[in-house]
Amino acid sequence: SKGCKLVGCGSAVPSIQISNDDLSKIIDTSDEWISVRTGIRNRRILSRKDSLTALATEAAQKALQMAEVDPDDVDLVLLCTSTPEDLFGSAPQIPKALGCKNNPLAYDITAACSGFLLGLVSAACYIRGGGFNNVLVIGADALSRYVDWNDRGSCILFGDAAGAVLVQSCDSEEDGLFSFDMHSDGGGQRHLNASMKENKIDHELGSNGSFLGLLPKGSSYSCIQMNGKEVFRFAVRVVPHSIELALEKAGLAASNIDWLLLHQANQRIIDAVATRLEVPPERVISNLANYGNTSAASIPLALDEAVRSGKVQAGHTIATAGFGAGLTWGSAIVRW
Ligand code: ACO
Repeated sequence: SKGCKLVGCGSAVPSIQISNDDLSKIIDTSDEWISVRTGIRNRRILSRKDSLTALATEAAQKALQMAEVDPDDVDLVLLCTSTPEDLFGSAPQIPKALGCKNNPLAYDITAACSGFLLGLVSAACYIRGGGFNNVLVIGADALSRYVDWNDRGSCILFGDAAGAVLVQSCDSEEDGLFSFDMHSDGGGQRHLNASMKENKIDHELGSNGSFLGLLPKGSSYSCIQMNGKEVFRFAVRVVPHSIELALEKAGLAASNIDWLLLHQANQRIIDAVATRLEVPPERVISNLANYGNTSAASIPLALDEAVRSGKVQAGHTIATAGFGAGLTWGSAIVRW
């Protein structure tokens, strides 16, 4: 059977930077409170004029350049996002913008902060199933568009970004995606969501018998609702276990990995997971101080920085994990 390997990565962030001090001008908070509780100092946000799809395209372009793969050779584009610019899916806009003349399959994957991980697994399934050779997995989110900027417990956490990885088919001996572990728990949805607004229905049926009164007025989602303490507890409980399961499937121990690369939600979550797995701080990748929690983009963004700075090198083994709304979570053991 076929193997899969990661052959390129890229990322892109908006130019507007918002510091903790900037936030303290609109809500009752401080740089000290935010950095001590979360490790976050800055985040980037997309302006109204900017396009998340364009940011995702830029990240994908850089991944193709690194891999030296022609856009026409891409046969699948998975856009992992919970904030598409088209409710029907933004993914097909990316091969269009990349100039792929082969009309590759492209669709969105919605799984918040676990999205990139699910994209990676999906890419592996397509490649191993046969017929697919170059799969672009893009994580891109603009949660700033769904944040309640009056809620100081959540608005301090999030930032916008895009990151991409090109997954390519290879001989099975070269396989670089060793194992996965994936889960969901819909019972925890109440702790983190951006659900459809509960529109008040004025009347059961219109006086003329029309059904239109039964339908929601407009179509809007509420802002992000989060119980920070519950989300924190959830992450620290499930992530170490999930990584242990994935390591076991790969026949590896935590001491065998070169890097621990978690979804960048909160430095305290990262530290707690690393401590539990006994991974020393010098083997933990973290860049959330600069970008905050960028949802589906956080893992490929941090990977891209670590690869381009020379930290992550060819042949290194990485344990990665995503976790977030749904609730969903999952881990993968991969080789760069
Ligand atoms: N500035 C100052 N004070 C604040 C702020 C703020 N930004 N936010 C909350 N507070 C106050 C609260 O009002 C509360 O005050 P009180 O004691 O007078 O009532 C006090 O600080 C403590 O609030 P808690 O919510 O209990 O603070 P906690 O220590 O739990 O920290 C935090 C909150 C940082 C959100 C933490 O719970 C956390 O990081 N949780 C994980 C959240 C997360 O990572 N979510 C996303 C992951 S999934 C995904 O990526 C989509």
